[in-house]
Amino acid sequence: MLDKVTKLIDDVQTFKTTSKEEIEAFRIKYLGSKGMLKELFTEFKNVDASLKKDLGQALNYLRNAATNKVQELNEAIEDNQVSKNIYGDLTRPSEPIELGSRHPISLVRNRIIDVFSKIGFTVSEGPEIEDDWHNFTALNLPEYHPARDMQDTFFIEQDPDILLRTHTSSVQVRYMENNEPPIRTISPGRVFRNEDISARAHCIFHQVEGLYIDTDVSFADLKQTLLYFTKEMFGKSKIRLRPSYFPFTEPSAEVDIYWGLETEIDYKITKGTGWLEIMGCGMVDPNVLKNADIDPEKYTGYAFGMGIERIAMLLYQIPDIRMFYENDVRFLEQFKSVL
Ligand code: DAH
Repeated sequence: MLDKVTKLIDDVQTFKTTSKEEIEAFRIKYLGSKGMLKELFTEFKNVDASLKKDLGQALNYLRNAATNKVQELNEAIEDNQVSKNIYGDLTRPSEPIELGSRHPISLVRNRIIDVFSKIGFTVSEGPEIEDDWHNFTALNLPEYHPARDMQDTFFIEQDPDILLRTHTSSVQVRYMENNEPPIRTISPGRVFRNEDISARAHCIFHQVEGLYIDTDVSFADLKQTLLYFTKEMFGKSKIRLRPSYFPFTEPSAEVDIYWGLETEIDYKITKGTGWLEIMGCGMVDPNVLKNADIDPEKYTGYAFGMGIERIAMLLYQIPDIRMFYENDVRFLEQFKSVL
């Protein structure tokens, strides 16, 4: 009987297959409830006691070999399937390319550019690191002018002052220095102020500056442009102009848009009034024209400046300005379908 068992061990160890059915048949043949091992162990009871030790060991060995074999063959089939899935069907269509999404600040900036392009405005840009002349002095904000305090400046160097621009109005000056009227340009860009960061304010944000200079430009032209802009941008044209002060414009105004109070975020952003200030504007101060060598007797113009974040918050109902700069993909992915 020992010879028979030894032969079976050999059979088990050399057995090979890649078919699930054959593995199952093998398992039943050796390990099933009416299988060979069962039979052999029954026979074993009647074997002479002197043979029992060796034969018992051999039988145990056979049982382990068969059990291991079944497991080994099944694992081999699974591994094979996994690698087949990787290289599987080479004719299948490839994975679609994942499209990224534009940042909401870019989306709004692009829309603003679109709206003003339609009425003949070009796009201009200037440096983020500015000198005192372009950020302040040329804009009718001489040294020690109290209005400089309105803009908490990050200085880079002193004497002469080099700073991070606090507004895109600096680009106005550069544009006037390099172009003759008539001028129609908007200047989108990043600006910097040393402000405490909160849900409504940040030390880095974005503005779009607008400048229009020609003969006979009046405040009525400015107002008409603002109406056109708010209608195109928001589909709303209920606005109000509040008299205000900016050193570079005279007269100056702040523009509020009536947004309404439909959502909780509308409440938050408009502080419960439904009105939201969206920009500052006014007629370019004659001193500013003079500083850029434009004759204020011959030319007049208007200018305006608006914050992009604030508009984006309104349009996309974003409750906290900090979300723009955290680069959380869960936030950014929401703008996938917006062009
Ligand atoms: N520069 C102003 C600011 O940052 C915004 C502004 C107001 C720009 C009035 C203008 C303007 O051109 O006419 O707050």
